[in-house]
Amino acid sequence: MKGRIFSGVQPTHTLHLGNYLGAVRNWVRMQKEYECIFCVVDMHAITVFQDPAELRHNTREVTAAFMASGIDVAHSVIFAQSQNRVHAQLAWILNCVARVGWLNRMTQFKEKAGKDREAASVGLYTYPVLMAADILAYRATHVPVGEDQKQHLELARDIVQKFNTDFGLDCLVSPEPVIGGPAARVMSLRDGTKKMSKSDPSDYSRINMTDDADTIALKLRKAKTDPETLPGTDVLDEKGLVKAEAEAARPEAFNLLAIYAALSDQPVAAVISDFAGKDFAGFKRELTDLAVAVLGPIGAEMKRLLDHPGEIDKVLANGAARARALSEPILKEIEEAVGFLPS
Ligand code: AMP
Ligand code: TRP
Repeated sequence: MKGRIFSGVQPTHTLHLGNYLGAVRNWVRMQKEYECIFCVVDMHAITVFQDPAELRHNTREVTAAFMASGIDVAHSVIFAQSQNRVHAQLAWILNCVARVGWLNRMTQFKEKAGKDREAASVGLYTYPVLMAADILAYRATHVPVGEDQKQHLELARDIVQKFNTDFGLDCLVSPEPVIGGPAARVMSLRDGTKKMSKSDPSDYSRINMTDDADTIALKLRKAKTDPETLPGTDVLDEKGLVKAEAEAARPEAFNLLAIYAALSDQPVAAVISDFAGKDFAGFKRELTDLAVAVLGPIGAEMKRLLDHPGEIDKVLANGAARARALSEPILKEIEEAVGFLPS
């Protein structure tokens, strides 16, 4: 094994194609090389108000998405953050290590809090410290995250350094970010310059992992394109990558081609050479067949699991027990380092 991976997803929405291609599918692949811990971060979710019934549903739905996508629960740990109290306990200690000045620099807080910062929850402010606790409680070595989480990971590394210096120990381990891979960014189906996102008001902007075949077909048929035919291989540079100017000129076309490449596990150059000069209608039909072939079985398995929530809850309970067994001894060492008496 190359190390220990920890990653998390907030149960605030139904996962979409961007989450699948940009995160979950990569995690499925990393299971072979790393010891993996995947967490449904419900404590992060409540930093902004969540309807309790919806939160419960979304926690199970994200778990079902992990399971249906091929996270092997016999091997990897899947659990809900609130089911392991270590996260909250370690977060408190780390709150006393992190500096207000560090948190004041976090761009995501500024974005999420918006203009009325005074009205944001204290939890939203200290969100990155809880995220550091998630990772450091397991001495995770690698953390696959999106570009937007890089700053939070830097903060976790700063916390490690200050903690280890303050207490003169190597108690905490600095995690490395793992960013990207092909199709690291799936763009909106309505606007190729915007990321496919849970917060886009139009459901036509994204394909959800729970969408059925008809919905996928409809969304792809309505996906924005341009009046030209599909580009030829002249848009590729010597490395076989799409030239930036070409992509900027036709963002929607290249997004659909990139989605096709990711779903079929081919380099984008191969897809471009197959469809060069063809029209969008035929390409969209083939993309629909491919998307349905990949996502259909995952969506169906998610639905089956959600009809049997007991199965999901059992996986979470088992995951939480394993998560506790891994993190409790680490928390004990940290508490001892800080000067707490044994509990
Ligand atoms: P979020 O949905 O923003 O909570 O993100 C959960 C995970 O999915 C993170 O690792 C993100 O980087 C990834 N992700 C979210 N949206 C996209 C997207 N449009 N393309 C690629 N990855 C994404
Ligand atoms: N903040 C992350 C996001 O919104 C989710 C998250 C919470 C996370 N804890 C984590 C990701 C620990 C990686 C490691 O995407």
